[in-house]
Amino acid sequence: MKSAPAIMAALLMASLTLTANSMNAATTVKKSDFGKMPDGTAVSLFTLTNAKGMEARIITCGGILVSLRTPDRKGALGDVVLGHDTLADYTADTKTYFGALIGRYANRIGNAQFKLDGVTYKLPVNDGRNSLHGGPQGFDKRVWTGKEVPGGVELTYVSKDGEAGYPGTLTAVVTYTLTDDNHLRIHYTATTDKNTVVNLTNHTYWNLKGDGDILGHLVTLNADRYTPIDAGLIPTGELRPVAGTPFDFRQATTPGARINQTDEQLKFGKGYDHNWVVNRTGAGLSLAARVEDTSSGRVMEVYTDQPGIQFYSGNFLDGTVKGKGGRVARQHDALCLETQHFPDSPNKPTFASAELKPGGKYDTVTEFRFSAK
Ligand code: GLA
Repeated sequence: MKSAPAIMAALLMASLTLTANSMNAATTVKKSDFGKMPDGTAVSLFTLTNAKGMEARIITCGGILVSLRTPDRKGALGDVVLGHDTLADYTADTKTYFGALIGRYANRIGNAQFKLDGVTYKLPVNDGRNSLHGGPQGFDKRVWTGKEVPGGVELTYVSKDGEAGYPGTLTAVVTYTLTDDNHLRIHYTATTDKNTVVNLTNHTYWNLKGDGDILGHLVTLNADRYTPIDAGLIPTGELRPVAGTPFDFRQATTPGARINQTDEQLKFGKGYDHNWVVNRTGAGLSLAARVEDTSSGRVMEVYTDQPGIQFYSGNFLDGTVKGKGGRVARQHDALCLETQHFPDSPNKPTFASAELKPGGKYDTVTEFRFSAK
C-alpha cells in the first residue's frame, strides 16, 4: 500500500501534467523536410494544427505560408492561400512572392534609393526604376532558422550590413502562432547595429473560396484615406479621402463592383494595388480589413498595429505562373492584404518614419482571424 505522502505526490504530478497539457492543449507543431536550396541548404516545413483542425504550414525558405486550411460554414477545411507544390517552384518564382515574409522593406522605394543621416543608399532595381520588396534577393528568398515554440514557429534571419543595399546588420525574428480560436498571429521583431529602415510584412494571396477569382469576395477596409500613386506605383505623398471614389471600402463591397471604372488610380495599379491609411483606435491592434466569401461562408479579419495596409487585387497574375496542382494563377485569382509602413516612407518626410536605431526594437503584430457564417 502506498503512503499518504506518496499518494499526494502522485496526485500533484497528475494535476501538473493536466495543467501543462491544457496550456499546450491546443496547437501541435510538427517539423519535417521540405527539400534543399540550390546550394544544398536544408529547408524545413512546420505544420501547426489547432484543436479545431485548422492547419497552417510554414517553410523556413522565406518564412512562406505554403497552405492554410480553414473551415467553411459546414466545417469543411479548405486551403485558402495560393502557393506552389515544391521548393524549386518557390525559388524559381520571382514574380508573385506567394505567402512570403517580405523585407527589408515591403513594397516600393522610389528610384531605388533613399537618404539616411546624409548618406544615399542605392538599392537593387527590380520594378521599373524602383526597388520592390527588398530586391530580387529579399527576405522571401532567404532561408530562416526555424524553431518550435508553443503553438507556433519562430523564424530568425540575420541580414548582414549592406545586404541588398541596406545599412546595418539586421536581426529579424518572426513568430507565427495558430490559436484555438482560429487566429493566425504574426509577430515581427527586428534589431540593428546601425541606423537603418525596416518594414516587414507577409505577402499571402488569399482566396476564401479556395478556387476561382476574388472579384465577388466582400471586402471592407477600415480606412477613410489612402495614398494615391504615380504611374510607377510610388505614393505621391498625398493622403486622399476615399469618399466618393472606387477606393471607398468602408462598407463591404466586392472588388469587382468598381475595378473596371475609368479612374486614373485604378489605371496606374491595373486594379487595386494601393496603401490604405488604417483608421486607428489608439495603440495596439485595430481592425484594418475584413473579407467574406458568401459561397463558403468563410470570413477573415485582419487586425494590426501598423499604419497602412496594401490591398492588392492580384493584378499582375497573368497566367504565366502555375501554382499548386499545376493550377494556373490568373489575374484576380487572389487578393493580398499586406500590413505595413506606407510605401516609400524613407523618401517621404510626411509619412511615419520607418527608421530603426541601435538599441531600439521594431516590434509589430498582425493577426488574421478566421470564422465562418
Ligand atoms: C505588391 C505590390 C504589387 C506587386 C505584388 C507582387 O502587392 O504592390 O504591385 O508587385 O506585390 O507581385
